[in-house]
Amino acid sequence: MTVLSTSQNDIALAAKALRDGLLVAIPTETVYGLAASAFKPLALARIFEVKKRPFFDPLIVHISKRSQLKKIIDYKVLKSIKGSHNGLSPYLTFKKLTAAFWPGPLTLILPKARELPEIISSGLNTVAVRLPAHTATQKLIKAAGPVAAPSANPFGYLSPTSAKHVERQLGKKIDYIIDGGPSQIGVESTILDLSVSEPCILRPGGIGREEIEALIGPISQIDRSEENPKAPGQLKSHYAPHARLFLYEYGKLFPALLPAEMTTSVDLVFFSRKEAEKIFLKDPPPAGQKVHFLSEHGDLREAASRLFSLLHKLDNLKIKEVYMEKAPPEGLGEAINDRLLKAAAKES
Ligand code: TXA
Ligand code: MG
Repeated sequence: MTVLSTSQNDIALAAKALRDGLLVAIPTETVYGLAASAFKPLALARIFEVKKRPFFDPLIVHISKRSQLKKIIDYKVLKSIKGSHNGLSPYLTFKKLTAAFWPGPLTLILPKARELPEIISSGLNTVAVRLPAHTATQKLIKAAGPVAAPSANPFGYLSPTSAKHVERQLGKKIDYIIDGGPSQIGVESTILDLSVSEPCILRPGGIGREEIEALIGPISQIDRSEENPKAPGQLKSHYAPHARLFLYEYGKLFPALLPAEMTTSVDLVFFSRKEAEKIFLKDPPPAGQKVHFLSEHGDLREAASRLFSLLHKLDNLKIKEVYMEKAPPEGLGEAINDRLLKAAAKES
């Protein structure tokens, strides 16, 4: 494996590698992805192999411009989907959302084009697509064509938000990593299903529900039913660190409430340093207690961008148990808390 920069030469080299059917880890504004050319089934199969990802869990196709969609989605089927959502057809909703949020952390589920290899969509008749905002990755896709890329982590483990995270987890198994700096957003894209008459959020992510609703009106709640997961990736346990996570609602993690014998053997994570310091005035953590903060002043963007890197850090330190405060449940807090719940759940 070779680590590349975002220089013109390195991007050209990575684009050739993709065209040759190799695997390249790519920076995006959400998390790092593990990319293969979207039209090379053997390379795509290797993504599943390297990640140990089950074949029933489909991949997201990443594009650099809308015209590439012609070979990825089926416009005819999209235009024929019946139903209107707040007066808009699914096709008009699609046009409005892409105009507002692409490039950016919004993945849309749309009817799939026939040319697209089946392995990408696990045999579904829909495909997930997004246009990432990272300029190096846009240049790469421009040169190499659309790529399919899941997050660049072994299946079920923490997502990577830096080239180092990818190197540690998958370095030996892949061909190149483009180091494009830390991921600015830090949680994965929001996934919105537009293949049905009523749009529905399948995964909360980098764009808050409120932002989408401001544009297209109220959207239905995420269907969390595990018996019938619409996104195969909507599993209860995911993003799991090695440490055991115990979660507390925002504002409900007080050092005094922890079992006395455990306080110094576990690490505490608070959402906001500023708010935690107010709690510590009345209820200080015992001497020797390790305390971490997801944000300095309670900023959701900052917290999202630090989430996975903090969990990676605790794992590298071999911390066994972490008591962690959730984010306030609004905006990006929905995505942060979704990742925390899944990270805390143990596979049954
Ligand atoms: O921000 C992101 O979305 C990152 C970066 C690399 O772009 N990618 C990412 O990919 O999070 P991944 O594979 O870790 O998550 C993709 C999710 C999975 O839960 C998968 O089940 C769902 O998208 N998905 C893909 N195609 C789908 C489809 N046709 N219908 C429903 N869900 C789909
Ligand atoms: Mg993932």
